[in-house]
Amino acid sequence: MKKIVTINKKINFFKKKSISVDGDKSLSIRFILLSSLSNGKCVASNLLRSEDVNSAVNNMKKLGIKIKIKNDYCEVHGKGLFGLRFKKNLVLNSENSGTTARLISAMLSNSDNWIKVTGDKSLKKRDMERIIKPLKLFGIKFKKNNNKLPLWIKGPRLLKPITFTERLGSAQCKSAVMIAALRANGKTKLKCLPSRDHTELMFKNVLKIPIKLKKKGVYDIIEIDGMREFNNFNYKIPGDVSSASFFIVLTLLSKKNNLIIKNININPSRIGIIKILNMMGAKIKILKKRTYKGEPIANIFIKSNRNLKAVNLHPKLNSSAIDEFLLIFLVASVCKGISTFKNLSELNKKESKRLDWGIKILKMMHIKTKKFDNNSVKIWGNPNLELKKLYVVKNFLKDHRIFMTATIAALALGGQWKIYDADCFKTSFPKYLNILNSLGANVK
Ligand code: S3P
Repeated sequence: MKKIVTINKKINFFKKKSISVDGDKSLSIRFILLSSLSNGKCVASNLLRSEDVNSAVNNMKKLGIKIKIKNDYCEVHGKGLFGLRFKKNLVLNSENSGTTARLISAMLSNSDNWIKVTGDKSLKKRDMERIIKPLKLFGIKFKKNNNKLPLWIKGPRLLKPITFTERLGSAQCKSAVMIAALRANGKTKLKCLPSRDHTELMFKNVLKIPIKLKKKGVYDIIEIDGMREFNNFNYKIPGDVSSASFFIVLTLLSKKNNLIIKNININPSRIGIIKILNMMGAKIKILKKRTYKGEPIANIFIKSNRNLKAVNLHPKLNSSAIDEFLLIFLVASVCKGISTFKNLSELNKKESKRLDWGIKILKMMHIKTKKFDNNSVKIWGNPNLELKKLYVVKNFLKDHRIFMTATIAALALGGQWKIYDADCFKTSFPKYLNILNSLGANVK
């Protein structure tokens, strides 16, 4: 059954001045996958308990890894670089999680049997060529289906180290190469366009495996010595800045509120949205900054401000805001002036075509937009925007970020909204509605 939420009232004064959001999705999935390859019992606290993380857990269990989870506490009993069990006719379903599907594919080389890797309707539309290409160079074998899921994978115990250039700025592609490099007999050299660097930081500060990181022009250079087993480890997962972003934008666009969001990962490769909103005039502050195992963590302070100006965004900021563009477009719709966002092809390759969906939602709100060069958009902001009509958002391939963005538009800008597939926020942010309602919304 399709669950629908109806929102027809803006949020007023927040009932709370501070919140915490769920644990970071990228770090939670990396913890599950990398701890499985360690030697011994690894423990995580504040693990994100979302559907994407569940799919990583279920797949690792199918590969013979013992995992115990209670609330946000998680224990993984790693079996080393060569300890996964590959049963005949094994099917690994990553559901909606691109990160799980792409990273796990790099772990399946040590199998004589073909292993089927698949996903849900949305994931089956997404490009897998970006990982097949480098993984084949390592010696991993693929039975392909037009470079989309389902795929069948097997491969030799020992992989050949590779030299590879990653040109999409995709952290999932980079991380797949890095994970395969762990089982390569020698040094893998990777040159890649910048993207979130959680895997590098974990390799260096948590797994303590030999890795060299350098910058060369616009590229990041990563060198990894393979065949080094690593010990068990513990990890405290910080809050997810992508989840915090919904509350940052809600606070910014609502009237006379301020909010502290506690214990958030503010890795520079993730906080493009904060930089962009500050360029628009938001004045978001970073408080109590500290570092945990190489990852910067802080509290974020934000207050309401509708006096915002348009930006002409340099595409070098795209990758650090890649999951937040739907929210950024929403803010651009109330900025004074015309905002421009360019080179966003990757945005149309996410859980849904998010560039097109962002434009569609703004058009519904009678905001003038122009898509150009097939991957760029101009947005004519209206600082006096007040929504009054009925807005229906449906058939968006259950994209969690579309659902949550639409709820923020409704609560901040008004109108009557009917938003379908209301369960899909559980993909990345299961506490979303509870937190929203604790601030004074009434979304059920
Ligand atoms: C992720 C990387 C990003 C992001 C996704 C999570 C990751 O995709 O959109 O939600 O955890 O590595 P890219 O592979 O496009 O960087």
